Order: sequence, then structure tokens, then C-alpha cells
Amino acid sequence: NWNMKNFIEDQVELVRRQVGDRKVLLALSGGVDSSVVAALLIRAIGNQLYCVHVNHGLMRKDESESVVRVFRDQLNANLTYVDASERFLNALAGVSDPEAKRKIIGSEFIRVFEEEARKLEGIDFLAQGTIYPDIVESGTKTAKIVKSHHNVGGLPDDLQFALVEPLKQLFKDEVRRCGVELGLPDEMVYRQPFPGPGLGVRCLGAITRERLEAVREADAILREEFALAGLDHKVWQYFTIVPDFKSVGVKDNARCFEYPVIIRAINTVDAMTATVEPVDWAVLGKITDRILKEVKNVNRVCYDLSPKPPATIEWE
Ligand code: XMP
Repeated sequence: NWNMKNFIEDQVELVRRQVGDRKVLLALSGGVDSSVVAALLIRAIGNQLYCVHVNHGLMRKDESESVVRVFRDQLNANLTYVDASERFLNALAGVSDPEAKRKIIGSEFIRVFEEEARKLEGIDFLAQGTIYPDIVESGTKTAKIVKSHHNVGGLPDDLQFALVEPLKQLFKDEVRRCGVELGLPDEMVYRQPFPGPGLGVRCLGAITRERLEAVREADAILREEFALAGLDHKVWQYFTIVPDFKSVGVKDNARCFEYPVIIRAINTVDAMTATVEPVDWAVLGKITDRILKEVKNVNRVCYDLSPKPPATIEWE
């Protein structure tokens, strides 16, 4: 009889057998899969697990802080927190092409992770949050590649480790149930998908600190208001975008020239196609008021009505 408790007990046993008294490294992004792997491995091997969280400066508001809070403070994990924000922003300065941005973020990520891996001596295993659909999808390759995605992979030869992948039999909903069973907080287990390049692909064109701050603050307001309206578990993905152009407006009786914030809220089954959530006008109105009042350098809010296709979910 298969249930989540038994699954966890079995995996704990298997991991202990595989790892023995050796050390395991994990890139802990704070996404559902890596968080659940971390919780499971902490239960199995405690401080033989070494987590590295790279903050690329493109995280949502309070996201890196919550990784530290949950894993270091509550679960006593061995966690290296790397604030690489400056480094990423410098590498991205002036780069406006979406694919170039994605490549820089991906390769910089691997470089930072690699540097941290080298500092930790005597690592034998690399843990990964591979889940069943990852294996199936890479096996069939039905999806045409529209954008380069990034995941940790492509480490140099002298840094190749044996893999620990305790979730590779699970579907996403099972991974979430596993996380709940392991005591992870709901907001971590039920978090919406977030792209590896993070807010970098939502701060369109060449990233500036000013617009990055605007997209992060607007996103935090959107998430807060969606939760209040009971939409946070209903809508598949919702976020804000700040483009790299300004429009004319009027504030305090004077002309202003500032950025718009675009809201996107979509539903999908497999992210290959998506429909727009018909968000209640009153909810949109409240979000708009708050963004215009609270977010600096913004004078306009728009709602993206485009399904996928032809629009992709992210703007870059
Ligand atoms: P698009 O924009 O291609 O996005 O319609 C489909 C889904 O994938 C997410 N996405 C990513 N996820 N690394 C990821 O792990 C990435 O580089 C990446 N880019 C897009 C996107 O948020 C949406 O859920």
C-alpha cells in the first residue's frame, strides 16, 4: 500500500544506504522541487547535506530571506547563502537581448555555484530535484525550444558527482504532498512556478536597478492582493512586468514621464498553452491603486489579455 509516509520512509532508507557517511551538495533555489529534496535529505542525512542558495538579485521580494529562515533557522540545515546580486547585475548591465540575458544569467549561475562547490571539500554527491515529468519530457522532446531554460547542469568534468534524486518517481502534486508531510510551510510548497532567470525576464530589455525595484514591489503587491482575494491557489501563475519605455502621465498637477507595470495572470495545464484569468474588475482596481500609490517611477498599470499562443507566458 503506497502512501506518502511510506514513500518518505523508503526514500530516507535508500538515501542513507546510497550516501553512507559521505557528503551531498544541493543547489537550493527555494522552488518547490529543490525545497522538498532539501527537506527529505535533511531528514535522511542531516548535516551531511550541504545546501547552497545563490541569490542572483532577481528573486522576488523576501524569497531568499525565506529560504534562509526555513532551512537554516527552522530546519538547522547546512546552508551557504551567496548574495551574488551585484555580480549578476554587473554582468547584465546594458544587455537588452532576451536570449543573451538568459544565457548570462544561466552561465553566471553555474559559475557561482561551481565556486561554492569547490570551497566545500569532500563532496561526493549532487542532489537534484528531478521529478517524473522532467525525465519523461527530456525523453520525448516534443516541446520545441522557444527560450533557453536554465537548470543546474553543465558543471565541469572535475566537478561531476553521482546524483541523488529521491523525487524522480513523483508527479508535481505528489512532490507538494511530500513537502507538506515533511513539514514545509504552505507558501513554499504551493508556490507558483518561477523561471530560473527570475525577475530578469520580467524587467524587460537592459535591466536597471530602478525598474527591477519597480517590478519586485509591484509583484509583491499583486501576490498580496491575490491572496486576499482568494486567487492565489486558484490561478496557475501571476506576476508583473516592467517594460523599458515610459509614458506620459500627471502627478501632483505636473507632467510626469514614468514606467508602466503590466499584470499577467494565466491558467494552464502544461505551460504549452495558456488562457488568461478573467480577474474581477474590482480586484484589478485595488491592485492598480496600490501599485500607483506605492511603487516608485510608475504611472500606469495595464492587464495583459493575450493567450498562449501566440504570446508566451513570460514576456522574454
Ligand atoms: P513561456 O514564457 O515559455 O513559459 O510560455 C512557460 C513556463 O515556463 C516558465 N519559464 C521557465 N522556467 N526556467 C524555468 O525553470 C526558465 O528559464 C524559464 N523560462 C520560463 C514560465 O514562468 C512559465 O511557467
